Amino acid sequence: MDLQKSPRFGSRIVIVAFLLLILNAALLCNGGKTSSFFRKVENNVDMPLDSDVFAIPSGYNAPQQVHITQGDLVGKAVIVSWVTVDEPGSSLVRYWSENSEEKKLAEGELVTYRYFNYTSGFIHHCTVRNLEFNTKYYYEVGLDHTSRQFWFITPPEIGPDVPYTFGLIGDLGQTFDSNMTLTHYELNPRKGQTVLFVGDLSYADDYPNHDNVRWDSWGRFVERSVAYQPWIWTAGNHEIDFAPEIGETTPFKPYTHRYHVPYRASQSTEPFWYSIKRASAYIIVLSSYSAYGKYTPQYQWLEEELPKVNRTETPWLIVLMHSPLYNSYNYHYMEGETMRVLFEPWFVQYKVDVVFAGHVHAYERSERISNVAYNIVNGLCTPVNDLSAPVYITIGDGGNLEGLATNMTEPQPEYSSFREASFGHAIFEIKNRTHAHYSWHRNQDGYAVEADSMWFFNRRWFPLNDSTTHTWN
Ligand SMILES: *[C@@H]1O[C@H](CO)[C@@H](O)[C@H](O)[C@H]1NC(C)=O
Ligand SMILES: *[C@@H]1O[C@H](CO)[C@@H](O)[C@H](O)[C@H]1NC(C)=O
Ligand SMILES: *[C@@H]1O[C@H](CO)[C@@H](O)[C@H](O)[C@H]1NC(C)=O
Ligand SMILES: *[C@@H]1O[C@H](CO)[C@@H](O)[C@H](O)[C@H]1NC(C)=O
Ligand SMILES: *[C@@H]1O[C@H](CO)[C@@H](O)[C@H](O)[C@H]1NC(C)=O
Ligand SMILES: *[C@@H]1O[C@H](CO)[C@@H](O)[C@H](O)[C@H]1NC(C)=O
Ligand SMILES: [Fe+2]
Repeated sequence: MDLQKSPRFGSRIVIVAFLLLILNAALLCNGGKTSSFFRKVENNVDMPLDSDVFAIPSGYNAPQQVHITQGDLVGKAVIVSWVTVDEPGSSLVRYWSENSEEKKLAEGELVTYRYFNYTSGFIHHCTVRNLEFNTKYYYEVGLDHTSRQFWFITPPEIGPDVPYTFGLIGDLGQTFDSNMTLTHYELNPRKGQTVLFVGDLSYADDYPNHDNVRWDSWGRFVERSVAYQPWIWTAGNHEIDFAPEIGETTPFKPYTHRYHVPYRASQSTEPFWYSIKRASAYIIVLSSYSAYGKYTPQYQWLEEELPKVNRTETPWLIVLMHSPLYNSYNYHYMEGETMRVLFEPWFVQYKVDVVFAGHVHAYERSERISNVAYNIVNGLCTPVNDLSAPVYITIGDGGNLEGLATNMTEPQPEYSSFREASFGHAIFEIKNRTHAHYSWHRNQDGYAVEADSMWFFNRRWFPLNDSTTHTWN
């Protein structure tokens, strides 16, 4: 039906427009939007260890917990990791591209660790290098006894208009809700090609003695995705595993043994902060739980890293961290403040497009705002609209056992564009150097439903106001 030509619908449109005008005025007074979507609040429980998602692959010394991540700066290498439990076995990866029958071998390394009274399996890490861009590769691990085969697709060569789709998941854990989040991500028709994971993986540390068996079960749970597409890792507070009461005083011990990242490729000296380029994006990973004050290694690294970003090569500048710099929930309130004070001026100076964080177990998206004018005497401490500033997104709503953050500061601050306490994931779909489509997907909806969305305009190539808060004249 042609709505515009029908007089009956015409008058309805006027009424609807009028109502929207009133509604919108209310929203503007209130700052952004707090979704009224109601979700039952309950304690989340981890899936029992005998759940299907934790099944141990059959066969003697069969590789389990297989996972991949980018293995170099540009996407021509992949780090393949897996665990064997019966004996050390082979650290070799056999791989071949779908266009060629020639099979190659890459040699990895083997690590183990002890944590209190837990002894890890044999953890293998192998970097497969010199891959062709934009190519499907098959790979096989467990070459000594029971081998298992997987595949991945390398990213296209880096370039300013290369489309690429990132998924965003944070604070996942291993509850029934976590399984829903992962399932929704997998079945989302927007089809993420790589996950940007904003920290807090297994939540094993919520168990007595940080029962590391839950690190293993988490590895088996997410294998169904991360064995086939890279997840880019960020360290969260649940990766610290610092427990002096049981003699565990090396921070990040389980995390660093299990998850390797290509930090040296970006001249980083620690695996907690690093960057990668992928397609048309430059992704900087920061650590909320490593020193970042002035003169520290992380601070120095970031100071030298930001000027290296060439927006002609990679127009999209994305920053990942665990603790959000802007957060209007009453959980972890202002925990990101010290890092904001140090790094926000750089984010504005270098026109970061978007900062993704986790930590708060809910969802929130900000306006483009900055709060960098303040010094100790001028009193200028209110966030202001700033088209050079990033959008800040909290996506800590993966669904872990600690449950949802539902308590919000009231009224909603002006800078907060949308917030909702529901579990879900997001998709950042780069179209070209000027446009990226972003959407947030809650677990209660159908796979294709966008509960929040925004067209991102690139800060270097199309720095117009892309706020979703409409004004009506
Ligand atoms: C580790 O210690 C805890 C508490 O003493 C105990 O319940 C558990 O069975 C032990 N685990 C192993 C692998 O020995
Ligand atoms: C997890 O999700 C998958 C895919 O939807 C499903 O096959 C599986 O049964 C689920 N497992 C649990 C324990 O909920
Ligand atoms: C930035 O990248 C473009 C495209 O790859 C290249 O032509 C240009 O020389 C680079 N600029 C600098 C300063 O490296
Ligand atoms: C961007 O647009 C929104 C909505 O129209 C407006 O509230 C905001 O002030 C604008 N930002 C700037 C920096 O002009
Ligand atoms: C919400 O958080 C505030 C500030 O921490 C606290 O005073 C209040 O009691 C909390 N409300 C609920 C319902 O937990
Ligand atoms: C970039 O993508 C947007 C959104 O798909 C599209 O509207 C625009 O025309 C594209 N720009 C170019 C130069 O193709
Ligand atoms: Fe956290």
